[in-house]
Amino acid sequence: MLNDIRNIMISEEEIAKKVKELGKQLTEEYSGKELLIVGILKGCMLFLSDLVREINLPLTMDFMIVSSYGSTTKSSGVVRIVKDLEREIEGKDVLIVEDIVDTGLTLSYLIENFKTRNPKSVKVCSLLDKPDRRKAQVDIEYIGFKIPDEFVVGYGLDYSELYRNLPFVCVLKPEAYMEK
Ligand code: IMP
Ligand code: MG
Repeated sequence: MLNDIRNIMISEEEIAKKVKELGKQLTEEYSGKELLIVGILKGCMLFLSDLVREINLPLTMDFMIVSSYGSTTKSSGVVRIVKDLEREIEGKDVLIVEDIVDTGLTLSYLIENFKTRNPKSVKVCSLLDKPDRRKAQVDIEYIGFKIPDEFVVGYGLDYSELYRNLPFVCVLKPEAYMEK
């Protein structure tokens, strides 16, 4: 698996430092609120599990699985909810936790969908942001790293379901895409 990597874009140490900063900021900003963390699976899994341990507040968690029709490296903008939230979000301060915002199509769909359920607030925390590729405007209140327009894997992000378990964010060699 390590042979497939062209370069590491964000190291384990940089991620850990950023997650701590975000956790501190969220702890301050959500103090006294009814924080509900909504993770968008599966990409959020490593980021979310590290982040919640840095938030020093009572909070609840729920998860959604969405799938966007399209090829493995390009999202089509048509979002299908594969698994919905288990509980209602009415009156809650919802924080959506995502791995990456690319075109923004998935998130803009989700935010609109959530707003119809009457939460008190809906904000977004994304580990990565690829602003160059945006097609739908979305406000991302909490961003870990802005990255250039390159396809990345690791720390929850996949290519063809692989590489999610890498502890850093990296770019693959071109050969790695051809073999799968
Ligand atoms: P968007 O709807 O285009 O913003 O993208 C949403 C989803 O596409 C993300 O949550 C990821 O699952 C996936 N995605 C976008 N860019 C990348 C990438 O560089 N690596 C891995 N997955 C990505
Ligand atoms: Mg995702």
